[in-house]
Amino acid sequence: MSQVLIEVEHLRKSFGGFRAVDGLSFSVSKGEVLGFLGPNGAGKSTTMKMLTGFLTPSAGRARICGAEISDDLLEVRENIGYLPEGAPAYGDMTPGQFLRFIAQVRGYEKQAANKAIADAVAKTQLQSVLDQPIDTLSKGFKRRVGIAQAILHNPPVLIMDEPTDGLDPNQKFAVRRLITAMAKEKAIIISTHILEEVEAVCTRALIIDQGRIVADGTPAELIARSRYHNAVTLEVATGDADLIRQGLKEIEGAGDISEVAMNAASKRITVFPKDPETLLIDDVAIVSTEKHWPIKSLYAEAGRLDEVFRSLTTSDAGEQGAVS
Ligand SMILES: Nc1ncnc2c1ncn2[C@@H]1O[C@H](COP(=O)(O)OP(=O)(O)OP(=O)(O)O)[C@@H](O)[C@H]1O
Ligand SMILES: [Mg+2]
Repeated sequence: MSQVLIEVEHLRKSFGGFRAVDGLSFSVSKGEVLGFLGPNGAGKSTTMKMLTGFLTPSAGRARICGAEISDDLLEVRENIGYLPEGAPAYGDMTPGQFLRFIAQVRGYEKQAANKAIADAVAKTQLQSVLDQPIDTLSKGFKRRVGIAQAILHNPPVLIMDEPTDGLDPNQKFAVRRLITAMAKEKAIIISTHILEEVEAVCTRALIIDQGRIVADGTPAELIARSRYHNAVTLEVATGDADLIRQGLKEIEGAGDISEVAMNAASKRITVFPKDPETLLIDDVAIVSTEKHWPIKSLYAEAGRLDEVFRSLTTSDAGEQGAVS
């Protein structure tokens, strides 16, 4: 049976009369990586600050490894690694000094501290900057110092606020791989604005808007809510577009058709299924072969997470095509 390590019930945070987090409930089990997605100001960081004891909830409750955040904050903090937004404090310290300080605060003896620090440094590839003051490090290295600090005590619960923000593509890849490698043994929450990251590392995602959960599912489930799910896109020469569009209309099961110019020479035509569960690709392939359409490429769409995100988090959803 899955082991629930994070339980959140009706969590709420108000600042004055403004509800930044408005009754969130969810749980995360060992082995899960939960993604928080949402526009700026949705309440992602505020939720993370409450789970890690840096903000007191206005209402609701949360348990980390069975301990209530309102009663057992010390125990909660022992079980949590937290990467806050932005850069770690203590900019005068070097990463080496900072991590030793954290190890001491966490009560490590010297030898155990050496081992924990060496491990965290290796996982975040910090060797080359260990003796340089944190203030003088580049943004990405500062971020990696924060990650090293969060994983130092090998906690069962990890909460990371935009862990790959500011990292170069190689480091993004490395941090995603690190998260995936740690996931088996932990319950992890990350927030991100990078939608590909959700597919790359998250087993489940919550889309949060104005302090509320507006979608909850696996990346595949969320993507399947897209209008593009099971649609077929063809790349064709501009001169052939009219003929091909007419032909596509005749396919049974075909609904709307959209057309986007890629450049002067080519267009991308997308045919949407009338019923989202209809697979159109075989029919489109058969018709295009029969009619000898000169097609540059043809593919079935899984769906587009950016479109789902937009349609759930903007008031002009109608224009973008609402999800079913
Ligand atoms: N201490 C505070 N006092 C007043 N308002 C606050 C405070 N902290 C956060 N807020 C407000 O709460 C809302 C949620 O902020 P939060 O930082 O949680 O958003 P977020 O989802 O993390 O956004 P981003 O994607 O920009 O990081 C925002 O409107 C923010 O201005
Ligand atoms: Mg934030």
